[in-house]
Amino acid sequence: MTELTHSIADLRDRLASRRSGMVGLVPTMGALHAGHARLIEAARSECDTVVASIFVNPLQFDRKDDLQQYPRTLESDLKLCSDKSVDLVFAPSEQEMYPVAPCCVIDVTKLGDHLCGRFRPGHFRGVATVVLKLLNIVQSDRAYFGEKDAQQLAVIRRLVSDLNVPVTIIGVPTVRESDGLAVSSRNRRLTPEERGLAILLFGILSSVRDQIASGSTDSAAITRAAIEGLPAGVKLEYLEIVDGEMQPVATVDGPVRVAGALWVGQTRLIDNLLCEPPR
Ligand code: PAJ
Repeated sequence: MTELTHSIADLRDRLASRRSGMVGLVPTMGALHAGHARLIEAARSECDTVVASIFVNPLQFDRKDDLQQYPRTLESDLKLCSDKSVDLVFAPSEQEMYPVAPCCVIDVTKLGDHLCGRFRPGHFRGVATVVLKLLNIVQSDRAYFGEKDAQQLAVIRRLVSDLNVPVTIIGVPTVRESDGLAVSSRNRRLTPEERGLAILLFGILSSVRDQIASGSTDSAAITRAAIEGLPAGVKLEYLEIVDGEMQPVATVDGPVRVAGALWVGQTRLIDNLLCEPPR
């Protein structure tokens, strides 16, 4: 049976008797979907106890309207957690997580300078801060994050190694719709017409991946070709080819990642793909 708690002290009490086995944490902001489910499945297959956290973290939102509009669907989230045999759902209030405005936060340098970090000031500071809090609260052996948010995953890996946090971070491949669109809680904001346009992001990323696979190496030329003829109704925020440290690569000479953010109407979608040059 899936247990629900809103309190840090209660969560720790409930976990105390389970510490002898492997504990896995899946941090989320709720509005759970097939992507989150995949993370939970990975945790379930490897851990004795699976904890899912659900917390819409105000610290990582750079726009107030985005925070207000973020879907909150606790009841159906609990159903998914129960279907996926989560042991404990931790769904704290803002008051529980931030009883006072924090004085100490995690500054993210370099890794957060490009891609989303360039366009969402303070975002990764908010993510790193809440993730460290969650890791300290749950003290799990493992924590699961999606490759869908590749820069976030890279930031968390560095957070854990830079600050010696005793947890193993597991990256989980992106879950996609049948046409390739990465599953996201933001997809539910799209009108049917916008849903048709949303697939363009996967198309652009696939074009970059295919060009690199067939031997193109000049990042600027590759990205230029990939975004040719984008229709009105979408706005590309960024498209970058980066290395493992999320730094731009001018000439591709090994495996890289292409990451993009596309505005479709009022909705911002992000996605990325691993790209490998021919051997
Ligand atoms: P959220 O957007 O709810 O995502 C929770 C986790 O699910 C993240 O690790 C994310 O990468 C993963 N995820 C989302 N869509 C996915 C997909 N289509 N395939 C695979 N994994 C997917 O990311 C956050 O919340 C927050 O920033 C959080 C880490 C919880 C900190 O507040």
